[in-house]
Amino acid sequence: MTNPKTFHVKSFGCQMNVYDGERMAELLAAQGMEAAEGGEADLVVLNTCHIRERAAEKVYSDIGRLGREDGTRPMIAVAGCVAQAEGAEIPRRAKTVDIVVGPQAYHRLPELVTLAATGAKAIDTDMPTLSKFGALPARRRTGASAFLTVQEGCDKFCTYCVVPYTRGAEVSRGWDAIVEEARALVDAGAREITLLGQNVNAWDDGEGRALHDLIAALDRLPGLERIRYTTSHPNDMREGLIRAHAEVEALMPYLHLPVQSGSDRVLKAMNRSHSRESYLRVIERVRAARPDIALSGDFIVGFPGETDAEFEETLEIVRAVNYAQAYSFKYSPRPGTPAAAMDKQVPAQVMDERLQRLQAAIWAGAQAFNQSTVGRSTRVLLERKGRKPGQLIGKSPWLQSVHVETQAAIGDVIDVDIISAGPNSVGGAERLRAAA
Ligand code: SAH
Ligand code: SF4
Ligand code: F3S
Repeated sequence: MTNPKTFHVKSFGCQMNVYDGERMAELLAAQGMEAAEGGEADLVVLNTCHIRERAAEKVYSDIGRLGREDGTRPMIAVAGCVAQAEGAEIPRRAKTVDIVVGPQAYHRLPELVTLAATGAKAIDTDMPTLSKFGALPARRRTGASAFLTVQEGCDKFCTYCVVPYTRGAEVSRGWDAIVEEARALVDAGAREITLLGQNVNAWDDGEGRALHDLIAALDRLPGLERIRYTTSHPNDMREGLIRAHAEVEALMPYLHLPVQSGSDRVLKAMNRSHSRESYLRVIERVRAARPDIALSGDFIVGFPGETDAEFEETLEIVRAVNYAQAYSFKYSPRPGTPAAAMDKQVPAQVMDERLQRLQAAIWAGAQAFNQSTVGRSTRVLLERKGRKPGQLIGKSPWLQSVHVETQAAIGDVIDVDIISAGPNSVGGAERLRAAA
C-alpha cells in the first residue's frame, strides 16, 4: 500500500468525538494531504463510539462497505472509543483494518499512516502522560459554532458506562492553551464556542480557577458572541458557575444536566452519587439565577433491576423539571462494566415500551417549551442553509433550531421574532431595523 494523498474522516459519536475528528482532519491536512469524499479517499478514518452496542457495531458494517468496485480499497484507520476498547482485536476481526488509534493517541496518526504504508498493522492505544494537544496543529477552519475540548476523561465510574475506560482519567487542559485555541477559532470565523468535557464543569486549572473563571475570560474575547458548555455532572455544578448564568451575557441560557433516572434506588445502583432531591435542588438554584434557562438531560431506561414503579419516577422527574429537550436511551450492557454483570437485566420488550412512554413525555415537554417561546423576540446565530430558498437555520439562545428567511449571511447574529413552534424547531421572522 502506498502513502495516501487524500483522506476522509467520519465521526460517529458525541461532540467530543466530532471535535477529535476535526482535529484529525486538520492534522492530516497539515501533512499535505487533501480532504476527499468517503468512497474516493486513499485513507478513511472511522472515528468510532463505544457508548452503546449499536454504536459500537456500526463500525464493522462500515468497514465491510469500504471496498471499491475495482477490487481495491482505501487504507482504513479505526479511531475513537471502539479503537481504545478493542485495540488489536479489531484487525483480527476485520482484516482490512490497517490502523487502530485511540482517543488519546491520535496526534501520532501521521506516523501510523507511514507504518501502515509498509504493510504493517499500526496500533496505538496508549494513554500518554503528555497530552496530544501540544502535538496538534493550530486551529484554522471552523463553522460559526465551534467545539473546544477543555476537559477529558472521567473518574465517576457510573456502573453502566464505558467512558472512564475509553477516555481515561479526568484531565483538565491548561488555561493558556484553551484561550489560545479559542482565539484561533474566533480568528477563523467562530462566533460561538461550546466548551467540551465529559464532566466539563469539573474543569479547573489546579491553581484555584474553575470553569466560570474560564468562561469570564472568554467573555472578554473580541468577536466571540456566545459561550456554551457540555456535559455537566450534577455534583460539579458549583455556585460560581450558577452565578455566571446570571452575570455573563455571552453565556447562553441552556444547561445539559443528565440525571439518568428519577429513582434513588436506581441512581445508587448506577453509582451516580447524586439523588433525585439533590438533582432537583441544583435545577432550582440554576433557575433562580437564570429564570429563562432551557434545561436538557439524558435518561436511561431499563437499567438492570428497574421496576415499573421506578420507571414511573423517571417519568415524574421529566414532568417536574420541564425539560426544553432531552435524550433517552435503552440501557445497553457494555463489556467490562459492573452493570453488565448485574442480575435482573430488563427484557427488550419492556425497555421498548418504557422508551416510547419516556420519549412521548419528552416530546410533549419540548413542544410546550417551544410553544412558550412563540411571541418572543430574540437573537439567532445563523449556522447553515435551510431547505427552502432564502431560508437559513440558526440557533436561539435556548439552542432551538430557528428557521428564518433572511438576506443575512451564515455567521451573522440577527434579531428574530419567534412565530411558530414544533417539537424539534421553531419558525422565526427577521426583525428588520427601521430604515433611517
Ligand atoms: N459524561 C456525560 C455523558 C456520557 S455518555 C455524563 O455523564 O452525563 C452520554 C449518555 O449516554 C449518558 O448520559 C447516558 O445517558 C448514555 N449512556 C451511557 N452509557 C450507556 C449505556 N451503557 N446504555 C445506554 N445509555 C448509556
Ligand atoms: Fe459515563 Fe458517568 Fe462519567 Fe458520564 S459521569 S462519562 S455517564 S461514567
Ligand atoms: Fe462515544 Fe467515546 Fe463519546 S464512547 S459518547 S465517542 S466519549
